[in-house]
Amino acid sequence: MIGTTLLSGALLISLVTASPINRPCLFESRRTAPKGFTHVGAAPESQSFKLRIALASNNVSGLETTLLDISNPSSPNYGNHLTKDEVNTFLAPTDEAVTAVQRWLTKNNITAAVSGSAGDWLSANVTVAQANSLLSANYQTFQHDASGKTYARTLAHSVPATVSPFIAAIHPASSFNNPVSSRPVLSVLGGKTVDARAIPRSCATSVTPACLQALYGIPTTPATQASNSIVIPGFIEQFAQKADLQSFLQSFRTDIDPATTFATQTLDGGKNTQGARFAGIEALDIQYTVGVATNVPITFVTVGENTQDGDLGGFLDIVNAVAAEDAVPQVMSTSYGENESDLSIGLATKLCNAYMALGARGTSVLFASGDGGVEGGQAQQCSVFQVAFPAGCPYLTAVGSVHGVAPEIASDFSSGGFSNVFGTPDYQATAVAGYLKTLGNTNKGLFNTSGRAYPDVSAQGENVQIVSGGSTGGVDGTSASSPIFASVIGLINDELIAGGKSPLGFLNPWLYANAAAFNDVVDGSNPGCGTDGFPALAGWDPVTGLGTPNFAAMRTAAGF
Ligand SMILES: *[C@@H]1O[C@H](CO)[C@@H](O)[C@H](O)[C@H]1NC(C)=O
Ligand SMILES: *[C@@H]1O[C@H](CO)[C@@H](O)[C@H](O)[C@H]1NC(C)=O
Ligand SMILES: *[C@@H]1O[C@H](CO)[C@@H](O)[C@H](O)[C@H]1NC(C)=O
Ligand SMILES: *[C@@H]1O[C@H](CO)[C@@H](O)[C@H](O)[C@H]1NC(C)=O
Ligand SMILES: *[C@@H]1O[C@H](CO)[C@@H](O)[C@H](O)[C@H]1NC(C)=O
Repeated sequence: MIGTTLLSGALLISLVTASPINRPCLFESRRTAPKGFTHVGAAPESQSFKLRIALASNNVSGLETTLLDISNPSSPNYGNHLTKDEVNTFLAPTDEAVTAVQRWLTKNNITAAVSGSAGDWLSANVTVAQANSLLSANYQTFQHDASGKTYARTLAHSVPATVSPFIAAIHPASSFNNPVSSRPVLSVLGGKTVDARAIPRSCATSVTPACLQALYGIPTTPATQASNSIVIPGFIEQFAQKADLQSFLQSFRTDIDPATTFATQTLDGGKNTQGARFAGIEALDIQYTVGVATNVPITFVTVGENTQDGDLGGFLDIVNAVAAEDAVPQVMSTSYGENESDLSIGLATKLCNAYMALGARGTSVLFASGDGGVEGGQAQQCSVFQVAFPAGCPYLTAVGSVHGVAPEIASDFSSGGFSNVFGTPDYQATAVAGYLKTLGNTNKGLFNTSGRAYPDVSAQGENVQIVSGGSTGGVDGTSASSPIFASVIGLINDELIAGGKSPLGFLNPWLYANAAAFNDVVDGSNPGCGTDGFPALAGWDPVTGLGTPNFAAMRTAAGF
């Protein structure tokens, strides 16, 4: 009921503050910029930017009900994914909404273009002066300390009561995005070579595709279905290098053609510049999909900076671009994220609903859970636990990290916890209640017991061997875990498609209904905030989720 909650929130504000005259009423606000941003001064009046207005969809709750039905393995409708037009029927704004919002913009001399496959987005080029006047806002320049990049944001903005119910989110306004995002931590990169026939013992200290095959029972036989695909979005100029992939396959997949490669798509002026000095650690996602999901078609989508607004604009653009395709990818794995508290509730909800829509089309949307533990930055000082976004959205699968073999142990950086925006979905309610009961009073008051809990699952994420700029070495991060899990889903989808069946689509109801198909992880925790964080315990936990893949058991759960 995500959309409806937001709508009634907006309505409530309107009722309280609206007067007979069409007075602006507060749409969203935040007290201060998030930690890590410095206020510079008023944004120059003549500075222009792309203002995005998300219109309220006419039937988000209908889409949600439908998605949960078609993703529930015990429903007769399981696997009946929707077409683009069917999804758009739910997502489209009402005519009344389009008319009211466009009339308001026109009155303010602003011409907006309709975008989004369902026509639920408007965008317009505006100056700061225009935006300040339109939204009774006060756009200021904020500098992101770590990158030095500056952004125009307003801590509060309003819209007239007559249009408020029709608007789901406005961006950029009070959402801040950390343009550095969550990227894998480089642990060792130094030309170390690892035995390609690595056995599980060496896997305790260096993870290769052979380790994952041994640990999780992942087959090496090539997939056969050309219509199958895994999409890997890339941001912030992390380029995937073809030469590094080839070296990687030569070292670690001696059984397959080293010329095996990936397709590249670009968005927002994205590039995929080749050359050792342009190698980003992004090589990781591509190497652990091409190198693990043998012969599953892999596409790297490189999202550029033309959004003028950092990652969040890119997040919106890529989900809208994928939703506009007639045939959506069966899997999309993203290793970037933000802190939930940096986003406005409206924007977080609109994005989460877009992942819901992709799930309804049959895409398994996966995100790395984040590498900040419970604090968001692995720090000990803080007053409440930080929540990762989009990991905390209930309509995608969040993947945490583990290390070690026999037993696998939770990685201390593996982000996990409870959303402050999205409530606990039914599919995980029993698993989460069981965990909270065992947890007792530990960490009481530091997290929201009624929130959507994450991650859902986990996979290896420490000392994962990659080739970057010609050097081989190990990297750490849930950024490794997500593509590894995505590869497992891609291989199961290959068999489903070959058998004329639907791909797995939105995974979570299926995952929680088949908890025994995962290797439960019961050691380790994700410390932070002056606590030991959440302990990994028997069953689901907010560090490793349900556990790591057991390919044979997952295959059985998929009906083989
Ligand atoms: C919303 O979708 C649900 C599920 O398809 C449907 O039952 C309901 O009638 C729809 N509501 C509206 C207002 O269209
Ligand atoms: C819109 O443009 C007209 C004509 O240039 C001007 O009179 C009016 O004040 C403008 N309105 C706003 C809200 O900027
Ligand atoms: C905004 O500007 C860009 C380039 O400056 C242009 O391509 C786009 O069409 C403009 N959009 C609108 C709604 O005017
Ligand atoms: C999230 O917040 C923490 C604590 O303020 C910070 O250290 C970390 O960099 C933030 N992460 C992102 C992705 O913004
Ligand atoms: C806790 O999460 C719920 C969503 O389940 C949300 O409505 C509520 O505002 C959150 N509480 C706090 C203190 O953030």
